[in-house]
Amino acid sequence: MKACVLYISRTGNTKLMAETIAGHLNAPIFDIAKPEGFVSGDFDLLVVGTPLMGGRPAPEVSAFLQNLPEGAGKKTIVFCTYAITKAGALKNMQSELAKKGYVTVLELSKRVLRQSKADFSDCLVELSKILKE
Ligand SMILES: Cc1cc2nc3c(=O)[nH]c(=O)nc-3n(C[C@H](O)[C@H](O)[C@H](O)COP(=O)(O)O)c2cc1C
Repeated sequence: MKACVLYISRTGNTKLMAETIAGHLNAPIFDIAKPEGFVSGDFDLLVVGTPLMGGRPAPEVSAFLQNLPEGAGKKTIVFCTYAITKAGALKNMQSELAKKGYVTVLELSKRVLRQSKADFSDCLVELSKILKE
């Protein structure tokens, strides 16, 4: 399965999570702020991440999802970092993706209070598990 990781990050937390996931999957990574070279058709699995912003995904991520081409059953994984509560941000992304015909197979989230102490190992375990299925 050919995967790529797409993310937005303001202060580096989501970037660190995205890089950790991309490293684990040995997948290319794109910053949604400037996704140069990203062609959706090149991949079977899109892994899309955002920080929580006012209880929602970052606006650039919502816009990016709305502008994706039709997914026709293509798989997605959504993830977020947050400080207080992830609220419905991942469900929101999932429903935007579903409108386009993408199937979300996993949601990953991490509360990051101090970036230097962020530990994504539980997320990587979940990721490996779902990719084996
Ligand atoms: C403008 C703004 C709004 C935020 N809104 C929320 C929120 O609604 N819920 C929450 O848990 N964290 C919220 N946060 C915290 C960030 O989601 C959290 O620090 C995240 O890890 C930042 O990711 P980044 O370093 O990739 O930008 C907010 C941060 C900012 C700057």
